[in-house]
Amino acid sequence: MTDPFAHDKQVAAVASAQFVEDGMSVGLGTGSTVAFLLPALAERRLKNLRCVSTSPATSALARKLGLRVDTFSGTDGVAHLDIAIDGADEVADSGWLVKGGGAAHTREKAVAAAADRFVVVVSGNKAVDRLTPPVPLELAQFGLASTLRRLGGVRLRDVPISPDGGVIADYMTPFDDPAELADRLANTVGVVEHGLFPPSMVSDVVIASGDRVETRTLR
Ligand code: 5RP
Repeated sequence: MTDPFAHDKQVAAVASAQFVEDGMSVGLGTGSTVAFLLPALAERRLKNLRCVSTSPATSALARKLGLRVDTFSGTDGVAHLDIAIDGADEVADSGWLVKGGGAAHTREKAVAAAADRFVVVVSGNKAVDRLTPPVPLELAQFGLASTLRRLGGVRLRDVPISPDGGVIADYMTPFDDPAELADRLANTVGVVEHGLFPPSMVSDVVIASGDRVETRTLR
């Protein structure tokens, strides 16, 4: 199926590649928008670029394009990133994001947290007044039935277990306050990670509608 927003995603992704400079360590997100970022980044032929990746799919494409991908796992992994660039499912006016439509939100949040600058890249249809469900979840397999009972309103997603062994699901109940829901999810035993990203994590949002690009700077 063709993505009606592919052009906008590509325009935003190409614009975001300009944030990267020689010698930077770069976190690479996951998804179809990031798939447009990777060739744009490779084409810039920047010197001494080192990347970490948030999914096997991103690692494979980045390496195929000649980008160097280092490990982000274990005590020998990269500890700090200059920048991370990633897509999102929704971006609210408040700067809150929903991520994890591609089930990579746990790794994506870890990479964003390690970066001085986190640039979010979206097509214009994803810019919304208020966030809506589904909110992606990664859940521990151990105690899963109990976690689901305590959370309520969760639908398991028919996708493979995550590369880190987690069960992918979606929180489906509408919510008014993303901070309150993020707090509840983060404090529920058995939730490995959720897909709500706070504005404090985000430095820039690049939004493309047609060929028009808007960059919102949050910090
Ligand atoms: C993956 C993500 C993606 O960034 C999000 O789902 C957007 O995907 P796409 O760029 O394919 O529209 O969070 O876990």
